Formats: sequence, structure tokens, C-alpha cells
Amino acid sequence: MDLEKAESRVKELHNLLNQYNYEYHVLDQPSVPDAEYDQLLRELVELETEFPELKTADSPSQRVGGAILDMFEKVQHRTQMLSLGNAFNEQDLRDFDRRVRQIAGEDIAYVCELKIDGLAVSLLYEDGLFIRGATRGDGMTGEDITANLRTVRSIPLRLNEPVTLEVRGEVFMPKRSFEALNQAREERGEELFANPRNAAAGSLRQLDPRIAKSRNLDIFVYGIADVGETGVVSHSEGLDLLDRLGFKTNKERKRCANIDEVIQFVEGWVERRPNLPYDIDGIVIKVDSLEQQERLGTTAKSPRWATAYKFPAEEVVTVLKRIDLRVGRTGVLTPTAILEPVRVAGTTVQRATLHNEDLIREKDIKIGDHVVVKKAGDIIPEVVNVLADRRTGEEQDFKMPDNCPECNSELVRLDGEVALRCINPKCPAQIREGLIHFVSRNAMNIDGLGERVVSQLFAEELIHDVADLYKLTRDQLLELERMGEKSVDNLLNAIEASKRNSLERLLFGLGIRHVGSKAAKTLAQEFETIDRLAAASREELTAINEIGEKMADAVVTYFGLEEVRELINELKEAGVNLVYTGPKPVAASQSDSVFAGKTVVLTGKLEQLSRNEAKEKIEALGGNVAGSVSKKTDLVIAGEDAGSKLAKAQELGITVWDEEKLIEELNK
Ligand code: IVH
Repeated sequence: MDLEKAESRVKELHNLLNQYNYEYHVLDQPSVPDAEYDQLLRELVELETEFPELKTADSPSQRVGGAILDMFEKVQHRTQMLSLGNAFNEQDLRDFDRRVRQIAGEDIAYVCELKIDGLAVSLLYEDGLFIRGATRGDGMTGEDITANLRTVRSIPLRLNEPVTLEVRGEVFMPKRSFEALNQAREERGEELFANPRNAAAGSLRQLDPRIAKSRNLDIFVYGIADVGETGVVSHSEGLDLLDRLGFKTNKERKRCANIDEVIQFVEGWVERRPNLPYDIDGIVIKVDSLEQQERLGTTAKSPRWATAYKFPAEEVVTVLKRIDLRVGRTGVLTPTAILEPVRVAGTTVQRATLHNEDLIREKDIKIGDHVVVKKAGDIIPEVVNVLADRRTGEEQDFKMPDNCPECNSELVRLDGEVALRCINPKCPAQIREGLIHFVSRNAMNIDGLGERVVSQLFAEELIHDVADLYKLTRDQLLELERMGEKSVDNLLNAIEASKRNSLERLLFGLGIRHVGSKAAKTLAQEFETIDRLAAASREELTAINEIGEKMADAVVTYFGLEEVRELINELKEAGVNLVYTGPKPVAASQSDSVFAGKTVVLTGKLEQLSRNEAKEKIEALGGNVAGSVSKKTDLVIAGEDAGSKLAKAQELGITVWDEEKLIEELNK
């Protein structure tokens, strides 16, 4: 075949493949069998191999770019990606409507859309070509995830018209793909995703686009960032334009003439929601007219012209089969309800924490009861209440045991505490949980060392205390179940990296009683080295504002233990950093302000405060006001007509606030 012929065939193949792709992934109406699509795609790839000059970025063959990235680049959004205010009931919706009409007049039409429970993305097209896709990030700066987004088949690589525009949408994982993915992960012994949203987020965060491709992600595009020259005058026209350009929009939308119609729409979806093939967490209500949107404007975080109605958490009924006990790292026993598996809010639930014995009594929970279950914050399963009228008389009261289920030592109830504890310091369950805590995200943050691996290391007696983690060898790790060369290398690197953590992570990780992550930070800042902290007296400790007597006693007792001194020596020998290397502390009264320790730059004209007033107030809250923007700047306050400093801040990805937001935070 000569080049000319090849070129025209390639064009033909582009058109056919794009059309079939669109029919299949956007319209959900395939017109040809998969095999035919695959055949044409193979033909295209062959031609592109023979004539590399015919391979273009928008070719249907280019959905996986191949290259694995080291990291995601930062991206400045041309228009800020806002979030939405919430409404939880009819009254909130009526209040929203009243505020809208006060500003924009009586004649308001709304568009109601499903609120897709996924991840917001921004897609940039130039002359009709998809050139960049990014996450929301903090709204101003996101991450460039173009390669992963190209693998989403419902995202067009080329639009039907050569327009330049930025659109916004929600990437999600359909329920069925989520279930299949979790099932496969379970079979491979990998950690499960809590819900489809986490799975979608996890997939988009992969540096290897082949993983994203395998995850079956989908998108609904719900808006245009800046309608510019498109001639569009309303949100609904914008959605129609998106349809014409080849985007996948959600068809379950409705233009409503007033708030009563909106409420009807919302109520209709409360019941129909479980039948959808994807998760939604509410309904988004938007003022339709763009001119009215403009008049309403936005607050620092969200537009005044839109709100999100959030559905109440889904509740289901199931049977409580038994109550298991888990011994935590402090020896506290937590009862857990083992349930007849049941689907709720997107996943199968079979356990729910019951917190403590009192809660079981308060809710009058018996073994064998029918119970109502929901997911708090849509993640953590919880027993809401018992359906006492469904009892048969066979149900049994639950009684806490007298002995620890793991080490059999006698349980005690400390003064004034609800919880029962195992106080045997050698209890294996406590030691194991302590190790899991040590490696966890807010402590030493050792990636790849989850509950499963730590439990295995502990069971195999490869680790007895936290210092042992730093003595693990490559060969030992390779012996573990499901650990390949690559995971072992990653794990060793993560362990090595954790040696450089600032002291507060170690202090929190050690699990000293009463010392949470905040107190650990205070102690690390005040004493700077672990040796100084270990030598501190009760008086020195209580002299610190945030350290109470209980905590001071716990710290003194802890460092007085011979085995703790030995442990610290071992950590020192292993090369673990025992010094505070974080930012300088600020006075205690200021330390919980958002400005504490931050370098702030003021730019542009402020209306309600003078520059000097703003500076004084920020400094009084522990902030440091600087004159120019650099990499060290944490925050820029941009007033009217802000110029080059604002541009520089945006370039560097620094958080920018307007004056309204500044005043809101100063008044907190
Ligand atoms: S409009 C300025 N429409 O919900 C308007 N958002 O808290 C911005 N979302 O960040 C959003 N479905 O990730 C809009 N049909 C929809 C949506 C939607 C889901 C997400 C989006 C946004 C969040 C709002």
C-alpha cells in the first residue's frame, strides 16, 4: 500500500472507530460486535506501524500512552474548580431558593442533575483535540492525569467540532465493574476498595495508565468551565452543546420551573437511586440562566447559584449473628457485630463496630436480633437500632468475658472507664496492634506495611517490637505470602525512608498513653530531641500549655521503663532520626489558627481592611507576612486588581484566598 492510500484508509478507520466507540461508550447502543471493532483497531495499528507518520495523538489507537510516569505534574486550572454547598432536607432547599430569588429575581428556572459519586476532573480541548485532563486538587491547582483519562473510553479524544474549551465532569466506576474488581482483588489477597468512589480515585492515581485502563472507568460531563464564545446562554443549552460535541452527559436531568418541581425531582430519586448502575450521593440543583448565575456570583468556596442535596445514608435490615471481641493496642476490648452479609451503600457489609459494652446495653442489642445498619459517612458500618418486634425469643444476651480472648489474662475496668481492658503488657494482640499503629499513615507512614503484612511478620516471629522492623532482610520478606521482588524492594525503600521522619511521627507511633498526634507534635517541637524529652520532669512537661497532668505522668512513666530505653537505643543504632525537623513552633495560643507558622503574602487592593490591619491580624495569629511570593510562601491573599504576585502564586501552585475568605478565617 502506498502512503496516500494508507492515509485515506487511516482516516476512514478513525471515523469508523470513533463512531463505534461513541455508540458503545457514550450512547450505550453498540451497532457492531466487539470483534469487528477489534479487527478494525488492529488494522489501524498495523498501518500506523508501517507508516509511523500517520500516527496522531487523537488516533483511537492512542488510548494507552504506554509510558509509566514518575509523578503527576501540577496543573493550574484556568477557571477555579469550586465545590458545592449542601442541602439535607426540604427546608434547606427552600432556603436556597429564597436566597437565589433575593439576588437574581423571582423568575428562576433550575436544572436538576444527579450528583455522581466519583471524582471531579477538568478536561481541556484545543481545536477539538483532548490535550489535558486534571484532578480538582484544591480547586486552583490539580494534577495532570491526562494519560489515565485517555483510557476512559467515554472521553472523546477528538470532538465533533474544532472548538477550544475546558469542561468539567465526574469520573466514576460503575457498580458492576467495582464488584468485579473487588472480587478479583479478594482472590489475589489484595486490600479491597471501600466503595466505587475510592476505587475510581485509586485508579486515577496510578502512574501506570495500563492500570487505569483495566479499571473500566466512565465519565459524565456536567458543565463547561467558561462558555466564552460558544453563544450558550443557559446551563441546559451548555449540556446540549456538550452532547453535540460528543461528550457523555447524564440524561436523567430536568429543567424545573420552580423549587416545588425541584423538590419533586429530588424525592423521586430517593427511591430510584439504588436501581442505578452507578452510585450517586445526591442531586445537584443549578440556576439555569447564565446571566442569573453571573449575578449570583460565588463565595470563596462555592457558587451561590447551585447547591447539592445530599441523600440520607441508606439503611438496611440484617441479622446480627454473633459478637466478636477485638483487643486494641491499648488493651481495650472492642465488641464487633458479625452480621449476615448485606449490601449497603455500594458494598457488602458483614461487621460493624459496637464500640463498648454500654452501647450494646443502651441499644439493647441481643445476639440473633434483626438490626438496622447504615454506613456512617458512607464508609464505616454502624448498627443504628434493633427491631425488637421481630424477636422470636431465641435471641441471647451478650456478656463480656472475664478473660482476654487472646492471652487469657484477667480483664479489668479502670476507674471511670466504660471499656474493659487487658492489662498484660505481653498480650500478643496488643503488641501486634501497636506495630500496626506504628507503621500507619499518621505515625511512621510506611507504605506497603499494612495490617496484613504486619500480622504475618508478627505471627512468623520476624518482628517483636518496632525496632525489629529496621532489621528485616530482603530474604525474610521474600518468604512472606504474596510478596514478589518488586513489593519487597518498595517495602524496604519505604522502611528506609521512614528513618528520616521528623520526631513527632515516631513519638505518636510509639503509642505512649494519652499522646495523640497533636500532643506528639507539641512535645517534639518543645523538646526537639527524644533524649531531652526522655529526661523531662513532670513539672517541665506540665509547664507546656497543652500538656496536662495525665499526659505528663504517662510520658514520665513511659520513658522510665528499662525496655523503652533499650528500644530507643536500638532505634538510634538502626539510624532512625530522633530529632524534630518540622517547622518552627509558634506560641501555644496561636497554634491552632490556620495562619500559625504560615508565610502569607498580601497583594492587590483590600476593601474592608487596610494592608497594615491585615498584616497585624495575621501576625497576631502566628502567621508571618512576607513581601514577595516564592516557593516558601504558603498562602496569598489577593485583593482587587492583584497582578504579578497572584500570577506567580498560581504558577507555583500556592493557595490563593480572596478578602472575603481572609476575613472569614480571621474571625474564626
Ligand atoms: S457542579 C460549581 N454537577 O460534586 C459547580 N458537580 O461538591 C461545581 N458532582 O466537585 C459542580 N455530579 O465533583 C456538579 N452533576 C454534577 C455533579 C457534580 C457530581 C461533584 C463534583 C463537585 C462536587 C460538589
